[in-house]
Amino acid sequence: MTTRTQHTATPQEFVAHPGRGRFNSAFFWAMGAYINWHMRTHKATAFADLPSSVVELGPGVGANVRYLPADARLIAIEPNPYMHARLRRAARAGGVDLEIRSVVGERIDLPDASADAVISSLVLCSVRDPAVVLAEVRRVLRPGGRFSFAEHVAAKRGTPTRWTQRILRRPWAWTFEGCSCERDLASLIRSAGFSDVDLCHYRIRTPFVPFNTHISGTAIA
Ligand SMILES: C[S@@+](CC[C@H](N)C(=O)[O-])C[C@H]1O[C@@H](n2cnc3c(N)ncnc32)[C@H](O)[C@@H]1O
Repeated sequence: MTTRTQHTATPQEFVAHPGRGRFNSAFFWAMGAYINWHMRTHKATAFADLPSSVVELGPGVGANVRYLPADARLIAIEPNPYMHARLRRAARAGGVDLEIRSVVGERIDLPDASADAVISSLVLCSVRDPAVVLAEVRRVLRPGGRFSFAEHVAAKRGTPTRWTQRILRRPWAWTFEGCSCERDLASLIRSAGFSDVDLCHYRIRTPFVPFNTHISGTAIA
């Protein structure tokens, strides 16, 4: 099992904060099983039958290693250095050959049409420009390749959850390093130029109310 890291994200593209970077690494390590339990059914469907080589956007500390096939190769697009040590540990424990690319999803350093599958969970909420990231996902996928996602999104307008998302937007984004609970990611994915999009909306029930409205699915390049 090998792990490699390439560092090329610039400070303009991703600013790693020592305090919040460490906090989020520890938070997702500690809360990963709980979050995954709430998303498990939808993740299991979206991430079913992945090929042996997978590109993952923002894998964090490795929440999705469990969905990779045995002896998989994972190319991790993870610009936050505070995630890397725990991600390496999770990959080792899961028997995954890990290559960390410390770049942003807006500028994936992979050739056109080079990937069979790209996956993401809880990442398009945090990237600076999700439309640019989706264009990059399409670019690196081979024709017919699959983007599988499980993301949290804005609630319906006028609902208490939507009000909560609005009211808490600033402290939430500060704590979770730029995360927005107000993105209409379903529309963005549908309009990103994929040939076929299959997605569903669902709700989880956690005390983290702004985080409870989700989508999951697949999009074919
Ligand atoms: C909320 S965490 C989710 C981590 C993991 N995917 C999970 O489901 O637990 C968001 C992740 O996206 C990463 N991230 C933030 N901005 C990014 C960007 N522009 N490109 C790629 N990853 C990014 C963060 O470093 C972090 O690991």
